[in-house]
Parts: sequence; C-alpha cells; structure tokens
Amino acid sequence: MAFLPKILIVDDEPKMCESLRMLLAVKDYEVYTAASGAEARAILQDRHFDVALVDMVMPDTDGHQLMDLINQKDPDTDVIVITGDTSLEFAIGALKRGAYDYLRKPFEFEELLATVENALEQKRLKKENELINAKLEWSESRYGRLVESSPDIIYALDEAGNFTFISNAVERLLCMNREDLISRHYNTIIHEEDREKAKWFFNERRTGERSTTGVELRLISSEACGESKSFEVRHLTIELKSTGVYDRDVADSSKKFLGTYGVARDISDRKRLETQLRHAQKMEAVGTLAGGIAHDFNNLLMGIQGYASLMLLKTDRGHPHHKNLNSIEQLVQNGADLTKQLLGFARDGKYDVKSTNMNEIARDTIRMFGRTKKEISIYEEYEEAIWPVEVDQGQLQQVLLNIFVNAGQAMLGGGDLTLVTKNVNLGAQDARVLGLQPAKYVRISVSDTGVGIEEETRQRIFEPFFTTKEFGHGTGLGLASAYGIIQNHQGTIAVDSQVGQGTTFHIYLPASEKGIKDEKLFFGYDHNDTQTVLLVDDEDVILKVGSQILQELGYTVLTAGSGREALEIYSTYRDEIDIVVLDMIMPGMGGGETYDSIKALKLDVKVLLSSGYSIIGEASAILNRGCQGFIQKPFTMKSFSEKLREILDGENTPMYQNSQLH
Ligand SMILES: Nc1ncnc2c1ncn2[C@@H]1O[C@H](COP(=O)(O)OP(=O)(O)OP(=O)(O)O)[C@@H](O)[C@H]1O
Ligand SMILES: [Mg+2]
Repeated sequence: MAFLPKILIVDDEPKMCESLRMLLAVKDYEVYTAASGAEARAILQDRHFDVALVDMVMPDTDGHQLMDLINQKDPDTDVIVITGDTSLEFAIGALKRGAYDYLRKPFEFEELLATVENALEQKRLKKENELINAKLEWSESRYGRLVESSPDIIYALDEAGNFTFISNAVERLLCMNREDLISRHYNTIIHEEDREKAKWFFNERRTGERSTTGVELRLISSEACGESKSFEVRHLTIELKSTGVYDRDVADSSKKFLGTYGVARDISDRKRLETQLRHAQKMEAVGTLAGGIAHDFNNLLMGIQGYASLMLLKTDRGHPHHKNLNSIEQLVQNGADLTKQLLGFARDGKYDVKSTNMNEIARDTIRMFGRTKKEISIYEEYEEAIWPVEVDQGQLQQVLLNIFVNAGQAMLGGGDLTLVTKNVNLGAQDARVLGLQPAKYVRISVSDTGVGIEEETRQRIFEPFFTTKEFGHGTGLGLASAYGIIQNHQGTIAVDSQVGQGTTFHIYLPASEKGIKDEKLFFGYDHNDTQTVLLVDDEDVILKVGSQILQELGYTVLTAGSGREALEIYSTYRDEIDIVVLDMIMPGMGGGETYDSIKALKLDVKVLLSSGYSIIGEASAILNRGCQGFIQKPFTMKSFSEKLREILDGENTPMYQNSQLH
C-alpha cells in the first residue's frame, strides 16, 4: 500500500485549521492539525511530515522559531508559510529562512492545493533524482572496478590526442604514474619509431573511415622498469583496439570528433615467443645442414691430416718439405676449427659432457685470450662456491673465446674486459623472459667497453653468417655457434648493449646436482704398442690413412669397410682384437647397431667411437650403452694415440653411466 502524503497544519484559529483539514483530506492526504506552537511541537515529536502549513502569527510561538524547529527535525519537510502580512520583505525573509513557499491570507483553495501539490511533486522528483544518482554512482563504480582490474591498458583521449583517462595497468606495465599522464599527449608513451604509425591511426579514426583493431605498436616504459624488469624489456609491444567518439551518429557528416577511447594489450611475451620460435626453426634447419657438411668435410680433413702426419714422421726437420707439411697440418687445423664452429649449432652436437667448474674454464680461457691482447685490461670476479655445470668443456671454451674475440674486435684501441661468474636462482618471471625453466643457473657475464651494438644489429647477431665485419674478416659464425652450443646445453645467451658504451653477454647454464670428477691424466705417445686394433669406417681414405697411422704407432691393424664386415672380422678374431675404432655414420649397418652386435659377442669389448658429426644424440646414446670413448674427426696422431692408450690402459669403465645426455 502506498503511503499517503502527510501534512501538518499549524494555525491558532481552530476554524481555519478545520477548514483546511477538510479541504485537503478530500485529496487523499493524511492531515494533522495543531492549534498552537506547543501542540505542533508535541505532534512533531514522533511524526514525519512531507509538508507543513505554518501560520506565522500565533500567540504562544513565533512562526519563525517553529519553522526552524521543523527544518532542524526533518530537513525534508517543506514548510509553506501562511501569513496575513502583505509585504514582500516578509515573504523573502521567510524564503531565505528555508520556507518552500508562502500563502497570503486570504487565499483560494486552488491556490493552496496548487502550492501543496507543487511541493509534493518537487519532493518526488528530488527523490527520484537521488535514486538515479545512486544507481549511476553504483554503476560507475562497478565499471571503474572492471576497468581497473583489467590487465590491459584502457584509456580515453581528447580530440587533440591528450589522455583524459588511463587505467592503472599503465603503472604495472610501463612503471608510470597514471596521474602524470593525464592531459599529456599519447606520444609520451609511444616508441619514437612508431609515432608516425600511431599518428596515422589516430587521424584515420578521426575521419571515421576505418576502425582501428589489431594494430601493433611499441610503448616505452619508464626508467623505473629497468631495475625490476629484465634488461631486455625496455619497451612493450602492444596490440591496440580503439574507437572514435563523436557528438552524434558516425554516419552524420556534421558530427564533431571528441576523441578516442581504446584498449592496449601487452603482447610482448607473444612476440618474444614468436621470435624465439622463428630463431629456433632457422637454427634447426641450419643445424641439419651444418651437420651434414661438417661430417663430410671432417672426413676429408682427416685424410689430409693423416697423410701429412705420416709424411712428417718420415721427414727430417732439415728437409725442405718439413715446413710445408707443418703448414698443411696448421691449415687442416684451421679447417677443423671452422667445422667445429659449424658443429656448434648442429643439432645436439655435444659429446664430451662432464660435470665442470665454470670458473676454471673461464679463467683458463680468458688468460689464453689475454696473452694475445696486451692493450686490453682484464677484470675477473668469480663466484666462490660456484655450482657445477654439465658441459662439453671444449665447446664452452669455444663459446667464451668467440665472445672474447668479438669483445677484442669491438675495442680495437684497447679497453676493459670484465668477466663475472655468478650463481643465480631464476624465478618464474626472469626465466620466462629468457626462455628458460625457473631453476638454478650459473651465469657467466662478459662485458666490454667497446663500440656497442645498434638495436637492429642486435636482433641478428646470433644468426649464422651474420657479420658486420669486412669481407674476409668475419664469417659470422662466432655467436651463432656460441648460441647453438649453449642451447644444446639447455641454457641461453642474452645480450645487453649501449652504442658507444659497450656490450655485455650473459651466458646461462643450468646448474648440476652432480659433483665434479677429477680429470684423468694424459697418456703418452707410445711406439711400442703391440696390440691389435680393428678400424671400421666406410670411407676408404680413412681406412688407408688410419691403418698407416696405427701401424706407425706400433699397432697391428685390421680394417673393415662396413658394419657387417666388422662383425664378421670380430667374430673370427675376437680374442686377438684389443680395441675397435668405430665410425658412427655408415650406410647399412651404422655405428650404433654395429656396437650392439659386437658387444653381444663380447660384453667387455673396448670401443672408441669416431665421427665427423653425429645425428641427434646417437653418439651420446652409444656412449650411454657402455662405449668407452669418443674422438672427433679430424684428429691428430697425438690425440688418437692418447685416446687409444686412455681406453686400453684404463679400467674397463664406460665413459658414461646413467648420464643424462640428450
Ligand atoms: N662485443 C661486441 N661488440 C660489438 N659488436 C659485437 C660484439 N659481439 C658481436 N658483435 C656483432 O655481432 C656480429 C656477429 O658476431 P659473430 O661473432 O657471430 O661474427 P663475426 O665476429 O662477425 O665473425 P666470426 O666470429 O665468425 O669471425 C659481429 O659482426 C658484430 O657486429
Ligand atoms: Mg666473432
């Protein structure tokens, strides 16, 4: 049931009171009357009124005081003053004091009714307004909360492109104070190189011809982001969706542009992953290619190396060919270095993995480098209790040398080279930026004070064959192979550079749980061996040169040109054969299968695996099955001899047992 409007009539003339009451009661109002100020006060004690009609002149009360009392008790009550006074001043005085309106005696019933109804209507409208405002406020606060809890930057611009609103995501994403951005132009946060593009879309939107969706732009984050975020995140790539705001329908040609509002989504992670993926695919393709080339090339080099070694053996130092033969060996070595770089980014091209103290490798390598570069000052800072890492030491040395050499080339006039090793525990956020799993890593940082790298170049430095050096001065393989090697070790390389200031390369290698094993000592070059070697290789030149070398070393040699032949020979001469030198990649029965078949004939057979290159993990897999050693072609007579003695004189311990090679 709707409540009836309540009306109070205060007049000291009872007749007046009564007639007013009767008149108003007709209108469905609940009417109360008071014939004196005292009576009115009593009624007002426990009742609320919408309208009070108050006679200003009463014997016991001043009308003004009563009006004050009513206003004080309930400011919502509209007071209509009834007066006999005809002066305008009186009326104005009453209104100033808070009266809603006034009626001068004598008045018509219609006049009374109209005034009362008017007061009630105003009241109703006021209530309705309050309700609408409350609803609006609630709805605004709800949308406000939605906007503020969005991970995207939501903003509004005025017609000149200045921010009128920007959500708090900007504080997290760009480390900027949102209040500082209000009234500033959107260019404040747009990457310099993207400003033209941003302007184009802003203007485009202004004419209303095309909607702006899926536009990629780079935003700049404030310096404050530099410390908390990775050095790689200096800007943020966003995808923009924005809409123009007009004073009337977009189709109306006379519409006025008021500004735009839009949403900017951070897609930096997606972009980074896309780049990583593209890079990984490229490296994989090049890796496959490089592996193939390295394999054939190393066999060729092996042949040249072998014959040169044999000739050297028979040539006196004074002989005119002696020097030339030495040069051939040196050139073969250079060729081998080149294929070694290629193998760096060949897929899974790591073989000789040991638990290692990176401080030692880094120290040795930087000393070696330092000897050749006197104009460079070297600073070293080593983590004391550095965690061990599982690495191919030769490859890691290669990575460091490549980085040192680059640093040297960037500081031709001299400078500082700083090496820092550190144990780091990467949390989820840092690991994600680097494309690694959160875990413990050993970080080796190499900084130079050289020329630095421009952003555009920086994006390409890990590409194979990318070089900024003059023709003939760089192959562009240094960093590509370093990157490949570190990736093969489940780590990564990051780079931070400032043009004119210098460059820092950070190498991350996963820390290992294993302890560090002591190195075995080298075995000498021995001419008096009388043991028998079965040499297995599908390349004729390798068989020829290999058997000559082995004979020179004093071994008796049996050769096999295929896995099947090797098996036949082994089954006949198993008791005479002391060691098998087995090529890994052969047509038909490959190294792995041959190894297994020979092992089936004699469980403790000694095998030295040799290869120019292995396809994915095959070398590791064979080594895991108990094979004692691996030698990379092309090898010198000295290293071949050492490897053979290492296995023949060593206990029959497999090179790896339960190791975690891939
Ligand atoms: N420390 C550095 N300072 C400045 N630029 C560097 C630095 N390291 C690498 N670069 C840039 O990266 C490019 C690629 O390096 P990378 O080692 O892969 O090839 P390269 O040095 O040009 O040739 P290579 O190492 O095969 O002889 C270089 O040409 C050079 O522009
Ligand atoms: Mg280089």
